[in-house]
Amino acid sequence: MTTATEFKAWQVRENNGEYHGSEQTLTTADLPDNEVLIKVSHSSLNYKDALSASGNKGVTRNFPHTPGIDAAGEVVESATGEPAVGSKVIVTGYDLGMNTAGGFGEYIRVPASWCVAMAPGWDARTAMIYGTAGLTAGLCVQKLLTMGARPEQGKVAVSGASGAVGSVAVELLAGLGFDVVAISGKAGHTDELKALGASEVVGRDVLAAEKKPMLKPVFANAVDTVGGQPLAELLKQILPGGSVSCCGLVAGPQLETTVLPFILRGVNLLGVDSVEIPLAEKAAIWEKFAGPWACPKTEVTARTIGRDQLDEALKAFLKGESAGKIVLDHSL
Ligand SMILES: NC(=O)c1ccc[n+]([C@@H]2O[C@H](COP(=O)([O-])OP(=O)(O)OC[C@H]3O[C@@H](n4cnc5c(N)ncnc54)[C@H](OP(=O)(O)O)[C@@H]3O)[C@@H](O)[C@H]2O)c1
Repeated sequence: MTTATEFKAWQVRENNGEYHGSEQTLTTADLPDNEVLIKVSHSSLNYKDALSASGNKGVTRNFPHTPGIDAAGEVVESATGEPAVGSKVIVTGYDLGMNTAGGFGEYIRVPASWCVAMAPGWDARTAMIYGTAGLTAGLCVQKLLTMGARPEQGKVAVSGASGAVGSVAVELLAGLGFDVVAISGKAGHTDELKALGASEVVGRDVLAAEKKPMLKPVFANAVDTVGGQPLAELLKQILPGGSVSCCGLVAGPQLETTVLPFILRGVNLLGVDSVEIPLAEKAAIWEKFAGPWACPKTEVTARTIGRDQLDEALKAFLKGESAGKIVLDHSL
């Protein structure tokens, strides 16, 4: 029998309905009984981690719990032989960090079917700069491309542009030659969004509630990371035949719209899920980020933190104040 290894994890505990995260010493015997034990070197911060850490029962039912929906590291035990011991892997989504102990611990134990092999020449920190947020941005862009989106059709809007998903979408689309309009509530973040490649940065007021059922069409296509009322307003401003990839709900899960954008302008609303999709679809996007879709500005500007900074960083997500990509480095 393999002996249990001690490790550190940032674990959230419940006390009288309040939730607090702190560093704890656990052992690998505390981890769920799955096929692959991974020594995690890096994780990535996501909005869903902030929800889990704040006790959101829609994300995490039982506490104590180690959040972290993303992890990258090295396989140290493998009951299936594939992925092999010593190989480098990326794990994102499925149940990781939700009700399965996640990447905010130095070890995770997960099913083999959740593990994507690290692309040759890539490393864990770089992969976690993208994380689920980057993967989601990539999937949003892929859906637009599959629907036939092309730069010459006109401007592409990105809402929640300064966020983790939005900022990668801005750089990726700009890199693919699109004219990107970044929609952001952070007036002080204009220079950063322009540096990522946005040709224009506009305030959230362009998506403020409007009584009119349709508005002047302005955007050929869009990536929407916020949902709610702003998404309804965005749909009214899409050019005929255009598409909107929809992945988020920071502005609310309700979508109150008419059918008019769909039946008068043939607008396509494309749902994007990065969590439960087949592993091969995730692997295809990872491969692109490790190659032609690399986002060098995102890679250079990403912030790296240690476990002792998690609390503050996660709270900023819930206040809508988080910007860019944040990587957790377990060696700090
Ligand atoms: N479908 C999937 O598989 C998937 C995967 C990952 C994430 N998501 C979802 O995608 C969304 C974005 O995730 P993220 O990691 O990018 O979060 P994030 O870093 O917190 O970014 C969200 C951004 O949205 C804007 N925002 C915040 N509150 C808002 C409000 N009330 N109204 C309008 N805009 C608001 C802010 O950008 P500005 O200040 O620039 O406007 C904020 O930075 C979340 O809902 C997350 O759950 C879904």
